[in-house]
Amino acid sequence: MNQLLKKYPEEINRILSRYPIDRKQAAVMPLLHLAQGEAGFVSRTALQEIAEITGVSATEVASVVGFYTLFHDAPEGKIRMQVCTDLACDLRGAREYLTGLCDQLGVKPGETTEDGLITIEEVKCLAACDKAPLFQAQLGDEVEYHENQTAARTVDWLRSMSAAINGTPLKTVKQEEVNPDEGGSHE
Ligand code: FES
Repeated sequence: MNQLLKKYPEEINRILSRYPIDRKQAAVMPLLHLAQGEAGFVSRTALQEIAEITGVSATEVASVVGFYTLFHDAPEGKIRMQVCTDLACDLRGAREYLTGLCDQLGVKPGETTEDGLITIEEVKCLAACDKAPLFQAQLGDEVEYHENQTAARTVDWLRSMSAAINGTPLKTVKQEEVNPDEGGSHE
């Protein structure tokens, strides 16, 4: 039994009704959005179920997931941060920004912080080339853009998000290095 169809019969019928019967493949994107909204990523099972519903192959559905940076095929951080390091952004310091940010969070591009809060990814053009360094942050269904960033500014934003989402302070590498017995600053 197609679990997606079983769980969301009305939503799926509504999505399919937007397209001619011989163009059901056009529903792949909204169905991926529906599946990702459920689990935070598109599982292999969901891929196959969407293929069944739309009459295309699972490989074709997987290729859509692979093409769009906002679809994911594995569970990762609650905040997915995507930093553009394409040429125009690189010329405005995006790569140094990404390195500085990753160093503070103790991860490499593509990795997730230990607390499961943040996944940082390196992506191509986000269509705001003159506002680099910038990142796109995906939080569930919401997508935010933050332009003209520095690593320090982004870490400040992440601190507020960590408090709001996890209810705990953001852990940075520098913070871990401070020995609390010495009463050092936790910056
Ligand atoms: S090259 Fe980075 S946003 Fe366009």
